[in-house]
Amino acid sequence: MSNSDFTPRESFSSKFGVVAAAAGSAVGLGNIWRFPYVVGENGGGAFLLVYLFFIVAIGMPVMLSEFVIGRKAQRNAIGSFKKLAPKTLWYFVGVIGVAAAFLILAFYSTIAGWTLEYIVKAISDSFAGKDMDEIAALFDTFHTGTFWPLFWQIIFMSVTLVIVIAGVKNGIEKYTKILMPVLVVIIIILCIRSVTLPGASEGLSFIFRPDFSGLTAGSILSALGQAFFSLSLGMGTLITYGSYISKKEKLGTTVVQVTAADTIIAMLAGVAIFPAVFAFGIAPEAGPGLVFITLPNIFQEIAGGYLFALIFFILLAIAALTSSISILEVVVAYLKEELYMTRKAAALFAAIVITIMGVLCTLSSGVMEDVKIFDSTFFELMEFTASDILLPLGGLLIVLFIGWYLGSKKTRREVSNEGSLRARHFPVFMFLVRFVAPFAIALVFLYGLGWLQI
Ligand code: TRP
Repeated sequence: MSNSDFTPRESFSSKFGVVAAAAGSAVGLGNIWRFPYVVGENGGGAFLLVYLFFIVAIGMPVMLSEFVIGRKAQRNAIGSFKKLAPKTLWYFVGVIGVAAAFLILAFYSTIAGWTLEYIVKAISDSFAGKDMDEIAALFDTFHTGTFWPLFWQIIFMSVTLVIVIAGVKNGIEKYTKILMPVLVVIIIILCIRSVTLPGASEGLSFIFRPDFSGLTAGSILSALGQAFFSLSLGMGTLITYGSYISKKEKLGTTVVQVTAADTIIAMLAGVAIFPAVFAFGIAPEAGPGLVFITLPNIFQEIAGGYLFALIFFILLAIAALTSSISILEVVVAYLKEELYMTRKAAALFAAIVITIMGVLCTLSSGVMEDVKIFDSTFFELMEFTASDILLPLGGLLIVLFIGWYLGSKKTRREVSNEGSLRARHFPVFMFLVRFVAPFAIALVFLYGLGWLQI
């Protein structure tokens, strides 16, 4: 018996709390920083369609599966499997998740640190009067440096740590409920300005006119990785959050709402970025710096751009924070429940290890840019291993667990709140979980890694 059998388990207090917390986890740098740059690197429209297909056919079923596991077991990512499948090796799925959490937060905090620097740049009006090249140079000087990128990363990790120590109710929920609608409004304003720039139409065709000839096996794997990353899947984040969801919530509805919010925000970010990318003559495949180079140019073209830039980067940092706390929480819930550490000790330990790994990621743009493993910097290696390998692998095992181990009867009971809901689409879900998702993930894997030629 674990200690959580004696203490009442924390849970989210209201319906809005659940959706806000899960959406807060999903919506983050993945939508605004990673989505545009990955779309740009993989040629635009065709990639986007594959991505949307993966969101629906794989992402949504995996999300519901994670919620079912967490809420049914009332445990962390590893403990849930130990409880639902005692004396089996299924808990290893949770182990992969906890390992992925370390890798993801390490590189996530690098980029989150960049957003903090950009708040300061916005306050000091650093973009004013600068042309495209000068704005690009501003980014280059900053992100190849040593002190400031590390400084901001450590600040960001400290804030994440403080909120996670405060706990689920007082921390996570409170900070995720607010401000997201404001972020959406600002992105919509950016979209409007971006599509009305001279030369914008080329950017719109780039994302909305699919050209399948440029789609490679590697791009398809990236689309899958991005779908998992953006929806916070495959790592046990939503198993952990699922364990905090009340038995009365409708899991299916929550999945639809969270997925819709996440996908709409990513699409809006794409519409804000690409017209401007082409209008300003920026390379769409510019990589992780894409949004940091593109957005300041758009702010320059908007009346009141100073204020918009400031609010935007503050909200982006907050969106990153509501995601980073959900990543750290996976590790903390595990250490707390399985290894009986206090929340404080667990959070402190995890944050220190992650920060040390994060330093390597941050310095990958600067003094350590020539340190390569398999031809990649630390940053690239951690990003690829976690998003494109560990998350889909975790997702594959999660759907197999629900579809073939836990089975239809027990799963239906959890999804339908012990039979009190009709769960009309349950057969569709079960079909996706048993057949479509496992087969699709396995195929994309083998093909993407070059082990299968089509
Ligand atoms: N989904 C978040 C984003 O888009 C990042 C994130 C939070 C995440 N928790 C996760 C990614 C778990 C993968 C797994 O920014």
